[in-house]
Amino acid sequence: MQHYIVPSQATIGMYICGFKGAWLHHPFWRARFLIQDDVTLEKIRSSTVDAVIIDDEKGVSLPIVASDSDAPCSPGEDAQIIALPRPTQRTAIGDPEIERARSVLRHGKKLVTGLFEDARMGRLNVTGDVAALVNDIALSVERNQATLINMARLKTKDEYTYLHSVAVCALMINFARQLQMPEAQVHEMGVAGLLHDVGKMAMPAEILNKSGRLTHDEFEQIKRHPVSGNELLLGSGNIPAVALDVALHHHEKVDGSGYPFGLEGTQISLAARMGAICDIYDALTSNRCYKAAWTPSEAITKMTSWTGHLDPDLLFTFAQSVAIFPPGLLVRLRSNRLAVILPNGMRGSRAMARTFFDARAKEALPVEDVMIAGGLNGDHVVSREEPSHWPFPNWAHMHAELMAGQYKMQDAAKRRAG
Ligand SMILES: [Fe+2]
Repeated sequence: MQHYIVPSQATIGMYICGFKGAWLHHPFWRARFLIQDDVTLEKIRSSTVDAVIIDDEKGVSLPIVASDSDAPCSPGEDAQIIALPRPTQRTAIGDPEIERARSVLRHGKKLVTGLFEDARMGRLNVTGDVAALVNDIALSVERNQATLINMARLKTKDEYTYLHSVAVCALMINFARQLQMPEAQVHEMGVAGLLHDVGKMAMPAEILNKSGRLTHDEFEQIKRHPVSGNELLLGSGNIPAVALDVALHHHEKVDGSGYPFGLEGTQISLAARMGAICDIYDALTSNRCYKAAWTPSEAITKMTSWTGHLDPDLLFTFAQSVAIFPPGLLVRLRSNRLAVILPNGMRGSRAMARTFFDARAKEALPVEDVMIAGGLNGDHVVSREEPSHWPFPNWAHMHAELMAGQYKMQDAAKRRAG
């Protein structure tokens, strides 16, 4: 269970899993660690952060004296421990994470609006508020992988510019955790996602808000926004190098046809390749002034069909992070069952898979439809599978039967025996 405490309550043996408040200004770059010595303890106690988040399953706790999951926690209060919900992966009606995520999005929209307005005037001052917002987003995604990401997708056309940044931040955090990056790097990826498109503020508003197709000259102007964003961030100072990189390179394509430099393959950093995927996924799944939102499944299917644009292996890892896959794909689940991904037209819902084969025993199983979990929880997808590597002599026929719901385990056994 995670709890907020004020810094003065910290003791040796507590496991720190986050800070509330001006994150850039807290005395540690790492956000997760065990307090093991007096020097570390003193740094925490004398810090100016609003609250410290501890995990009592990994370290020492304090007795719980109050329980109000949404109450503010500020230094000086007597009842400083506030219970947070256990991490879950499914959003239920009445789940307090919905209100928390709504609050984070509201705050995020306000903060990014101010930031971008400053950027439009040619000045950008990235303060600890940005880091604190990224921390809040990271905590929300950690508590429930899907809630904030799904809510951020449902933005109006007018909110797009600002909430797109928040959405890409959340997607980058979730993606980085899927890649098992250290938590400090996860936060940097979040900052990079939040600031990736700040250069758009240097573009003429009439081009940015145009509902019709851009002319050649207008598109040439828009293509300058990565360089403008990089310059704005360089001028701000106190920006992680990875955020400068993502702002500058998130429109590069792996076949070299992107902009501004036409970099190819691994000339484009991992962070920038991740940024490109998150940026496009959120753009496709949002309502825009020129098109209606696609479902997550439609977006992933489309992105997978493009050749030369995105890193295909990284795109599959991203699909794992949001638990959305192209329908029909043969996959292996953590439970060591092979399954095909089912079509899913329900907006915002998780992928369903039809399991049919025991990958370890190499034998057919009764067909079962299961929901795929996001992140690393539940029965998640661990790999794509090549049908020719498995004893499926007529995969096209078997695949068609599976997708149509006509596949029978007995028929498969007979065919193999025959
Ligand atoms: Fe962009």
